[in-house]
Amino acid sequence: LGKKVDFLPQCHSTNDELLLLVKNSVVQEGSVIYTDHQLKGRGQRGNVWFDELGKNVLMSILLRPKFLSPTKQFYLNLITGLAIVDVLGEVLEGKVELKWPNDVYVNDRKIAGILIESNLRGTSLESAVIGIGLNVNQSGFNMHGATSLSLESGKHHDRFKLMELVVAQLEKWYLKLKGSNYEVILESYHDLLMWRGELHAFKGVAGTFKGEIVGINQHGNLAINVDGKLQYFGLKEVEFIN
Ligand code: BTN
Repeated sequence: LGKKVDFLPQCHSTNDELLLLVKNSVVQEGSVIYTDHQLKGRGQRGNVWFDELGKNVLMSILLRPKFLSPTKQFYLNLITGLAIVDVLGEVLEGKVELKWPNDVYVNDRKIAGILIESNLRGTSLESAVIGIGLNVNQSGFNMHGATSLSLESGKHHDRFKLMELVVAQLEKWYLKLKGSNYEVILESYHDLLMWRGELHAFKGVAGTFKGEIVGINQHGNLAINVDGKLQYFGLKEVEFIN
């Protein structure tokens, strides 16, 4: 991965750029697009992903995970989260965790987000654009509960080096996925899962409730123990309160 890397001074969204390239030309697995600034950065659940010019890592990388059954697509999210955690572990002292499904948190603040957009051909995962936004040298946020590497470490960080580290760690985890090491990936994810084993408040389709976060199941759904009964929730079915 990362043999071909393209830089755009600014763009709407590196995911959009890479998706467009994939649609219109032959793009090799592992190709990367990164930028200094996104004008229409996109986040999960239709959110906007804001950044300050020249401060953060904003990148998309193309995978062609044809070996992966579409029912296991969420493993791409898991390995991307794990790769970012490994990178942060190299440069930070703080506690790095993954908030379900795949937000990266340091000391209880969000430092990175992941947006994966894939294309199926028949029943095969033809391509997956892995979008990663990692807050590096930005020091002010209008979003509550966000942080950056420089805020957490008190130091300025080299964004290009970080991007290279992300690519290298993603490759490591991608190879594990290719080798069908699902158990290892799940276990590593569970070890880092924020609030695991703790009682937490949620907003579900039928209202608010409390439960203990147990982990995720075979489909990437969140398993919550509600009054002694294990229940599973998809992305659109539950929200954390706080
Ligand atoms: C989230 O946590 O909501 C996901 C944020 C993903 C942001 C990255 S930045 C690079 C790539 N391009 C986008 O438009 N979004 C992703």
